[in-house]
Amino acid sequence: MPHPQDTLFEPYTLNNDVTVLSRIAVAPLTLFSSDADGTINDGEAMFLSQRAKGIGLYILGATLVSEEGAAFAGQPRAISEKDIPSLKKRAELIKAQGALAITQIHHGGLLALSECSKQDVYAPSATDTAKEMTDEHIEATVKAFAKATELCIAAGCDGVEIHGANNYLIQQFFSAKTNRRNDRWGGSLTKRMAFPLRVVEAVCEVREKMNRPDFIIGYRLSPEEPGDNGITMTETIALIRALCDYPLQYLHISQWNFNKLARRGVGVGQLRLKTLREAMAPDIALIGVGGLVTGDDLRTALGTGFVDFVAVGQSIMMNPNLGELIASGKEDQIIREIDLQKEDHYAMPEPLWAMCQQAMNWMPPVKGKPAKRLDV
Ligand SMILES: Cc1cc2nc3c(=O)[nH]c(=O)nc-3n(C[C@H](O)[C@H](O)[C@H](O)COP(=O)(O)O)c2cc1C
Repeated sequence: MPHPQDTLFEPYTLNNDVTVLSRIAVAPLTLFSSDADGTINDGEAMFLSQRAKGIGLYILGATLVSEEGAAFAGQPRAISEKDIPSLKKRAELIKAQGALAITQIHHGGLLALSECSKQDVYAPSATDTAKEMTDEHIEATVKAFAKATELCIAAGCDGVEIHGANNYLIQQFFSAKTNRRNDRWGGSLTKRMAFPLRVVEAVCEVREKMNRPDFIIGYRLSPEEPGDNGITMTETIALIRALCDYPLQYLHISQWNFNKLARRGVGVGQLRLKTLREAMAPDIALIGVGGLVTGDDLRTALGTGFVDFVAVGQSIMMNPNLGELIASGKEDQIIREIDLQKEDHYAMPEPLWAMCQQAMNWMPPVKGKPAKRLDV
């Protein structure tokens, strides 16, 4: 039983009346481990079956809405009815531990890998490696996000998170760096917002059509991009204001450092999350993430008052029972770096464990190797 005054376990009621029992979220984590056709296998099930206790929102990693968007090997899918059993199994594993299961829906766009998709790569604007999407292709992709939502509802997921972050297709439409179109999908800031908002609208329409007001819809975004044409805080605030006109339950700001300061545009030198919270409708929840490992890290982040939920990525990889350790006051057992000698590999599937061994700067720190952290 958590301490009754622990802010991390104060219930939060979303604006669609769904109550979430913990403020700790699990950030979407790609596990690189599904079978080639997106089916869940034992490795993935092992990972998911022991990480959701004490967690409020468990956001399942990037799940394809269209084969063409595959950006990693072993990605889950929400493309057709044959994907329902695996979507269902993932959701059941999470829900059995008391958390809400949210599936992140994704298209890689420019970052898709044709060796994974076996198709050409399509993006908002043509590049050396990608072809430009036509108007019909864009409409079909919006429909793919809607279809994925329908499948997630049919599979018993508690919600979807639209992946508008981390330089993937939706962000590529929003960014002047990757969207050089001059039609209704690009040109001005308003037109660069058209695709993200069209996807949001289509996803919300599915929920309406299926009469599931309790189904949660969130949107994840990266607030800034480096480089001259990259997204600025001023642009992100315009997007956030537009997103808040839709019946979304939460926004999720993707960062590697929760405390990152704004680089360009509105609020330079201030905490990005403070500026973004101030621009948002008060009844939409905000999730913050980035470098939060222990219960105290999470409490301090929540205590800023800028966010309603605090998410963990690398910490839950290293600490499968993180939520339980925090809830039971055993925080001294939380580990901060991976020991490559640990026999159970922290219940990670083999492809993910292999990536940990490479000690990349976007993976958890490895014992005995200098810690590197991404901070963009
Ligand atoms: C192995 C791994 C896989 C990830 N997969 C996704 C993903 O599927 N979708 C996404 O939006 N972010 C993904 N991320 C980013 C995380 O959701 C999170 O934002 C990031 O790890 C920072 O949080 P942390 O410092 O708590 O790890 C991934 C990160 C890692 C380490």
